Amino acid sequence: SPVPVITVDGPSGVGKGLVTRWLSQRLGGWHRLDSGALYRILALAAQRAGVPDSDGPAVAALVPGLRIEFTGDTEQDEAILVDGENWADTVRAETSGALASRIAALPEVRAALLQLQKDFRRAPGLIADGRDMGTVVFPDAPLKIFMDASPDERAARRYKQLSDKGIPATLDSLCEEIRARDARDRNRPIAPLKPAEGAEVVDTTGLSPAEVLGKVETLLRRIG
Ligand code: C5P
Repeated sequence: SPVPVITVDGPSGVGKGLVTRWLSQRLGGWHRLDSGALYRILALAAQRAGVPDSDGPAVAALVPGLRIEFTGDTEQDEAILVDGENWADTVRAETSGALASRIAALPEVRAALLQLQKDFRRAPGLIADGRDMGTVVFPDAPLKIFMDASPDERAARRYKQLSDKGIPATLDSLCEEIRARDARDRNRPIAPLKPAEGAEVVDTTGLSPAEVLGKVETLLRRIG
């Protein structure tokens, strides 16, 4: 039987990272795919190469040359190595999220990243988070989770996350950026952000991290 996958989709700042890391540990070391980081890295690579973020074929052509390695089990000790250089801080900045959501609307870019994402599916299992993990990349996943929360709460969480890491941000501009980015992700014609068929929707508005994980634990029981 195929290697099992749990998909965790939802808008920015909803707590996908928390859930993904917890699931990976809880299941005894399943692999993780942070698909958003791939879009962020590609957007930054395009910027470095001077490729315009509207040129789908040219941005997609950069994918085979990217050598990416993720290390670290916690948000604090994470490193994102691109050609051996740690890009983590730049990748996590909100400006990179905005850049990512521009190139993510280009069909050539999504096609170029598809196989790269599928290659993360290795035994004993994979937890994949993003926007289209359940709808496009792993439609056969036995458990699909869709997380949501109010925009204000997501902006506040993202603010705390960035300031904990010492990455500069202001709450007002984060609110604006997150709103613009989510609208772009939900309204694009290709792979828009929406719950997959059969997805379990978890609304985390007003929930503590422990309460969110409690809900996810309940869903896990369903797949045995
Ligand atoms: O999840 P994260 O905030 O890192 O994603 C950055 C951007 O990358 C998203 O706003 C979205 O536009 C894009 N993305 C996507 N499909 C995914 C993951 C991320 O389009 N599976």
